[in-house]
Amino acid sequence: MSDFEKKIIEFKSRLNSTQDSNEIELIRTDIFSKNGFLNSQFKKLGSLSEDEKKTFASNINKAKQELLEIFRVKASEVSDRDLYEKIKKEKVDVTLPEKEFKIGKIHPVSQVIDEISCIFSEIGFSVEEGPDVENDYNNFTALNTPEDHPAKDMHDTFYLDENMKTLLRTHTSPVQVRTMLKGKPPFKIIAPGRTYRSDSDQTHTPMFHQLEGLHIDKNINMGHLKGCLNYFIKEFFEVDKIKMRFRPSHFPFTEPSAEVDIGYRIEKNKIIIGEGDKWLEVLGCGMVHPNVLKNCKVDPKNYQGFAFGIGIDRLAMLKYGINDLRSFFECDYRWLNYYGFDPLDVPTNYRGLSK
Ligand code: DAH
Repeated sequence: MSDFEKKIIEFKSRLNSTQDSNEIELIRTDIFSKNGFLNSQFKKLGSLSEDEKKTFASNINKAKQELLEIFRVKASEVSDRDLYEKIKKEKVDVTLPEKEFKIGKIHPVSQVIDEISCIFSEIGFSVEEGPDVENDYNNFTALNTPEDHPAKDMHDTFYLDENMKTLLRTHTSPVQVRTMLKGKPPFKIIAPGRTYRSDSDQTHTPMFHQLEGLHIDKNINMGHLKGCLNYFIKEFFEVDKIKMRFRPSHFPFTEPSAEVDIGYRIEKNKIIIGEGDKWLEVLGCGMVHPNVLKNCKVDPKNYQGFAFGIGIDRLAMLKYGINDLRSFFECDYRWLNYYGFDPLDVPTNYRGLSK
């Protein structure tokens, strides 16, 4: 028997007898690698005569095929067995106490809702909620929205029936209606929640969050609205002074209506809120329209008040330096881990909101 044949037999028996993946890898290198046995044999071909070359080359190739076949079978057998052992070892007994656990994070939107609720509760507002699925009356009609208003268009609103009577609420304003219809004035509430519109790009998502505010009493005027919003913005951005302006606007449910801008500037790529000569729109507001009060069984001769609507996601982005609105809703654990908040650090008025 030639040395070549002896070597092949030795390899086959090494392969057949091993049960170890490291050993298999060693044998693979010994046989098939660049400096392995087979290549060293191929290199010998150059020094042989034509006839010897043919026979020897065919012997090497035959041996190579055989070894490859044995190798494949063995490697897969051992890796299957390893996997089985691993699975058996890693079996989890769910009744055992947790050894290592990851702390979840509070989503920035939830954090901001908690912060805002804190701020308004300090000046006597309570929190109301309304359903995401609303009727046309609460969402539009009671809020003095004319039949031909563009917001009622199918392209903007998600209707849930053919008659366009049920829909996903397009704003949190219907909570004003629900609150007034179920109680007696005075009213002093905020209502955070999900809202829906048929819109999607970097600054719009089909689902977003708003916060509604409503204060109805006997002598409420625009001065109260201004004071309230000024207090809120200062507290929210945790600054002592805030530059803000009221711009005349139009909403069917308020008269007069205004939009509020806050001043800001950019410094070293960071946005500084409350100062500077640039303006950013943050909310819509106004004095509740007498028709809305009537629709909600409140006598506009005795009662009046203000309302406002704030985009929560926008405020969260501004306060916490988040650029793309869509990332809020992607459920990416890494993102949440970075931008999220410690669940034990609940915002409070006395201990602080976010610091
Ligand atoms: N509902 C309005 C919107 O979604 C926002 C708004 C504006 C709410 C003025 C109000 C208000 O209560 O008074 O665009």
